[in-house]
Amino acid sequence: MAQIIGAVATTHVPAIGNAIAQNRQNEPYWKPFFSGFDFVHRWLAEVKPEVAVVFYNDHGLNFFLDKLPTFAVGAAPEYRNEDEGWGIPVSKAVAGDPALSWHLIERLVADEFDITVCQEMLIDHAVTIPLSLMWPGGCPVKIVPISINTVQHPLPSVARCLKLGRSVGRALESYPQDLRVLVVGTGGLSHQLDGTRAGFINKEFDRFCMDKIGSDPEALSAYTIPRLVELAGAQGVELLNWVAMRGALVGEVRELHRNYHIPISNTAAATMVLEHRPLTLRQAA
Ligand code: DHB
Ligand code: FE
Repeated sequence: MAQIIGAVATTHVPAIGNAIAQNRQNEPYWKPFFSGFDFVHRWLAEVKPEVAVVFYNDHGLNFFLDKLPTFAVGAAPEYRNEDEGWGIPVSKAVAGDPALSWHLIERLVADEFDITVCQEMLIDHAVTIPLSLMWPGGCPVKIVPISINTVQHPLPSVARCLKLGRSVGRALESYPQDLRVLVVGTGGLSHQLDGTRAGFINKEFDRFCMDKIGSDPEALSAYTIPRLVELAGAQGVELLNWVAMRGALVGEVRELHRNYHIPISNTAAATMVLEHRPLTLRQAA
């Protein structure tokens, strides 16, 4: 059976791609952020995932405002990146796992999630940056990308994203193949890139979200999308990807690591590692 080994959540700021390309990880501006990945590298080397299910939001590379699904699941054999205009190197294509994708799609539709299925899908910096952060030497895992609309309102609620994640988590645990699965949530934390509040960051709310995401994700469901925009910034709603990631951890969860650093570009940069263990039969009953 497939086994969910845990999750990594991380910021996906494009400027990180340039810092990697220019080997600037140890410069004073970047070190406090990149050093937060030392633990992640050790942990990934230990738990050895074979596939990563990545909750992220597309920023206009694969979907644009003309057609933007609330939830979309990749079912492609390979996912390519293209130039998004950020001036960062285009990443190598990443292998997909269509069999796992279709299993998740079947279960999501059975659970009444009316998702868009993408047999071709470009992945943007919200997938490629986290992959390069986790595996600087190249991505050794296959991926299933799941995109959540955090761009064009109306956005799905926090509660809905938690449910989406839970449906994915249950589907993963019922996948008959032996497979070590990592769940990834990207984006956030607080940031706003445009308007009169450009540069807005809310350290207190970010800390609250990091405290709750592992132990009590339902607490975040109390926030409406307009309230989230107020508290986390217009782009801080990328927190929805973290919420879906957490939802997919349907068993026992333990926080192993966190790093928080302000700012990277315009963003409060955050990284977390959550360990997952399936519930024992008695706990599940
Ligand atoms: C930045 C942050 C993002 O989440 C993003 O998608 C693009 C840019 C930034 O802070 O520069
Ligand atoms: Fe973003």
